[in-house]
Amino acid sequence: MFKINDNYLKLPGSYLFSTIAKKIAAYSEAHPDADIIRLGIGDVTQPIAPAIIEAVHKAADEMGTEAGFHGYAPDLGYEFLRSKIAEHDFKARGCEISADEIFVSDGAKCDCANIQEIFSLDNRIAVCDPVYPVYVDSNIMSGRGGVYDEATERFSDIIYMPCTAENNFAPDLPSETPDLIYLCFPNNPTGSVLTKDQLQQWVDYARRVGAVILYDAAYEAYISEDHIPHSIYECEGARTCAIEFHSFSKNAGFTGMRLGYTVVPKDLKTPDGVMLHTLWARRHGTKYNGAPYIIQKAGEAVYSPEGKAQLKEQVAHYMRNAHIIYDGLKSSGYTVSGGVNSPYVWMKTPDSMTSWEFFDYLLEHANVVGTPGAGFGPSGEGYFRLTAFGTYENTVKAVERFKNL
Ligand SMILES: Cc1ncc(COP(=O)(O)O)c(C=O)c1O
Repeated sequence: MFKINDNYLKLPGSYLFSTIAKKIAAYSEAHPDADIIRLGIGDVTQPIAPAIIEAVHKAADEMGTEAGFHGYAPDLGYEFLRSKIAEHDFKARGCEISADEIFVSDGAKCDCANIQEIFSLDNRIAVCDPVYPVYVDSNIMSGRGGVYDEATERFSDIIYMPCTAENNFAPDLPSETPDLIYLCFPNNPTGSVLTKDQLQQWVDYARRVGAVILYDAAYEAYISEDHIPHSIYECEGARTCAIEFHSFSKNAGFTGMRLGYTVVPKDLKTPDGVMLHTLWARRHGTKYNGAPYIIQKAGEAVYSPEGKAQLKEQVAHYMRNAHIIYDGLKSSGYTVSGGVNSPYVWMKTPDSMTSWEFFDYLLEHANVVGTPGAGFGPSGEGYFRLTAFGTYENTVKAVERFKNL
């Protein structure tokens, strides 16, 4: 008789966004005329930029010719894309990352979920609390993490690093020593960032204790302040201790097109010299058949002068929404953070409401949907995430409704 991987049974509760979807569906059914504004899920709304669409059309036409046909993509991605990434995302920022250290994929979610496969099951992970749920869940599915405690909403063998108003939503170095440290900045859900000095402290710490930092840079395009690093490789020594994830979803609207990449530097080795690059290349080659040629061509257009200019406008559009939310809520007396280098605004719920109480209250009284902070971890309780990814009109309308609450 077959047996299941019962690690899956350890995963607590239902998936945050399906719970939200069910609540919205129930409310809409009871109030069919309600004009619900969704500032909850982190999906983009702007159409794909013209320079990228043009590249898609051109690549599709090429595929219909004998000379331009492309079958399976190279395991690590096409050179034309990897060299553009190396030049624009790293060399231009003073980071020493070469094209063959970049693994193209269909997005950051899969990579940050799958990367744990190349590490031993007895490695201990450290995560921020609150946190993007993928890091914890993927480790639990694989058998790490220990036992879930309903009372504390925590797994016994995970090191949680609370990110609260007291530490400006930036984690303190852990008191127990982890082997793998997940960091995501600009942060989802809090919208907080680390300065270069703060990130350098993490790099120094990881090198001192022999840990690997798994750095999720999915939102780096939203950084507006000069002293905030876009990549962990801006820090000295990061090549020996960090893996970095990037996504084309938030900077270029590829949530439906699917493209991302992971950087595994060749200097990242075990003490006896095994390169993590070799392991990830082996994993990639065995379990992944590459992002489509047409999509990688679209990705190349992200780095063209026209593409860059159009995407700058797109990010500015979302950041205008972020400022509207941040300023509007602040002037109405709410406590807010994030929203400056991030499309996420993190607000404290009013009147000591729990995150879910505020979700229900906001849905009912303002017909606005956000994401309960508690869904990202116990330290998110009493907080609420709003995203700048809506339309301008809806964002303005939602903020007006907050003011009238
Ligand atoms: C922190 C973080 N990392 C990764 C992802 C996933 O990115 P992708 O669309 O490239 O899979 C998301 C998506 O919301 C995210 O918030």
